[in-house]
Amino acid sequence: MGKAPICTWICFLTLVFSHLELSDEADVIGAEGSISDGETLVSSLETFQLGFFSPGKSRNRYLGIWYKNSPGAVVWVANRNNPIAEGKGVLTLSDTGNILLNQTNTVVWSTKVSGAARNPVAQLLDTGNLVLKDNKSMPESYLWQSFEHPSDTLLPGMKIGWNLKTGEERYLTSWTSADDPSLGSFTYRLDKNGLPQLFIDRGSVKRYRTGPWNGIGFGGVPAVPNLVFKPIVISNENEVYHTYEPASNSITMRLWLNQSGYLQRLIWEQKSNEWDVLYSAPFDKCGSYGSCGVNSICSSRRADACECIKGFISKSQESKNCLRESPLDCQKGEGFTRLDGVKVPDLLKIELNESLNPTGCEAECLKNCSCTAYANVNVSEGRTGCLMWFGDLFDITEVSDMYRGEDVFIRLSASGLGLTHDSKKKNRMAIILVSIISSAIILGLISFIIWKRFEVKHHRSFMFMNK
Ligand SMILES: *[C@@H]1O[C@H](CO)[C@@H](O)[C@H](O)[C@H]1NC(C)=O
Ligand SMILES: *[C@@H]1O[C@H](CO)[C@@H](O)[C@H](O)[C@H]1NC(C)=O
Ligand SMILES: *[C@@H]1O[C@H](CO)[C@@H](O)[C@H](O)[C@H]1NC(C)=O
Ligand SMILES: *[C@@H]1O[C@H](CO)[C@@H](O)[C@H](O)[C@H]1NC(C)=O
Ligand SMILES: *[C@@H]1O[C@H](CO)[C@@H](O)[C@H](O)[C@H]1NC(C)=O
Ligand SMILES: *[C@@H]1O[C@H](CO)[C@@H](O)[C@H](O)[C@H]1NC(C)=O
Repeated sequence: MGKAPICTWICFLTLVFSHLELSDEADVIGAEGSISDGETLVSSLETFQLGFFSPGKSRNRYLGIWYKNSPGAVVWVANRNNPIAEGKGVLTLSDTGNILLNQTNTVVWSTKVSGAARNPVAQLLDTGNLVLKDNKSMPESYLWQSFEHPSDTLLPGMKIGWNLKTGEERYLTSWTSADDPSLGSFTYRLDKNGLPQLFIDRGSVKRYRTGPWNGIGFGGVPAVPNLVFKPIVISNENEVYHTYEPASNSITMRLWLNQSGYLQRLIWEQKSNEWDVLYSAPFDKCGSYGSCGVNSICSSRRADACECIKGFISKSQESKNCLRESPLDCQKGEGFTRLDGVKVPDLLKIELNESLNPTGCEAECLKNCSCTAYANVNVSEGRTGCLMWFGDLFDITEVSDMYRGEDVFIRLSASGLGLTHDSKKKNRMAIILVSIISSAIILGLISFIIWKRFEVKHHRSFMFMNK
């Protein structure tokens, strides 16, 4: 009789534990395994989930990956441009080692890997990466991975940039709308011309630019988030790419190129169970690429954001472009005016020489008649270089102390430099004039006193003479 309660307890606990185990959803499917609409894969630590979903008001079905505790935050979509009718989708791992997404008997999307795996498995990792691998091979050798096919979200560890051997580029593309994940008009990509820079483009039009990579971060972007995450650029003969890592494992972070063409760096707030925007870009009225025309500088502190660089003047009322007040002639006396703490001009026509120090950089620029500006920049941590611009200067932005700014030296002709000295000259002239006047007054006073004294003496002696 006394044994019955004990059994009840043991049976109950066994039931609870076996139930916990059963409720653990798989993170992997093997050959000929499948997932149909309504079923999901869940990564081992339950961070990410893969399955079918309908975005916003849409009734179309897409295969995607999202945060398990934030299903609205979809980080990857397989069939972006090929939606499936409700309930008709099925994901299978074929015996040839490809992931196929079918709508009835049509393949709407697949991994297209060639070279069959003998023991293929598809696994959703806790980083948010869906990987295809041979079950027997080394853990990190993947036949295919979703991280190499980005949608609109850059997760920690994902790369955007270039494979220099194959010429292949990876970048983010925005959704068309909140209801439609098909390829939208905005992209976020790495430009590898000279020094790495990041761009938001709309089609083929540049819309926003960071400054160049300086070994620590990209110029002109907030420097503060370094405490929260670390931006990374890897550049070697095989690849040039950008990625990032959160400062600690407890930080859940994503970078999202939203449908309006803005980047948002989002952090998951556990307390409130929502995403906080750490920052977004473009972030002020100077963020819009080249909004000020050539040879001008944008400052968000000014009501009229655009201003010609010192030594340049506005071409006309209609045009935002600025022209040299006095053209370069490559004659003696040419020099530079310094712009402090700016996002340096776009690297349209540049040359980078890593063997020149600051003095050498200035001399090298002066030597070439078409060099219009130079800057001493950090190329990577501990390596510096001389960056020289040729031709018009575009998209210079004044940045506040919180952002990463650099100094640029703009070349001016001798008379151009003279013009910027003119105001000083006028001041000096006035000072000289004032001194002359005051000297004259003092002199006048002294002469007056002397003359008065002389007059008194003279008068006295005159009186004596009369006596
Ligand atoms: C992968 O291999 C392991 C060990 O050989 C095995 O236990 C497991 O079931 C395999 N998984 C799949 C999905 O085939
Ligand atoms: C998916 O479609 C392909 C091509 O029609 C077909 O060979 C395959 O059997 C289908 N798979 C499933 C699970 O429906
Ligand atoms: C995109 O981000 C910008 C900047 O944070 C925000 O103002 C805008 O509302 C966002 N758009 C969407 C569709 O989320
Ligand atoms: C860098 O400048 C030095 C000095 O003018 C020159 O000798 C060298 O060829 C330059 N290097 C490159 C890569 O242009
Ligand atoms: C000046 O630099 C430009 C651009 O790099 C180059 O094409 C030109 O040959 C150089 N001119 C001289 C005189 O070195
Ligand atoms: C270059 O890096 C050094 C330290 O690595 C830093 O002190 C310096 O301010 C940086 N210069 C620029 C222009 O970013």
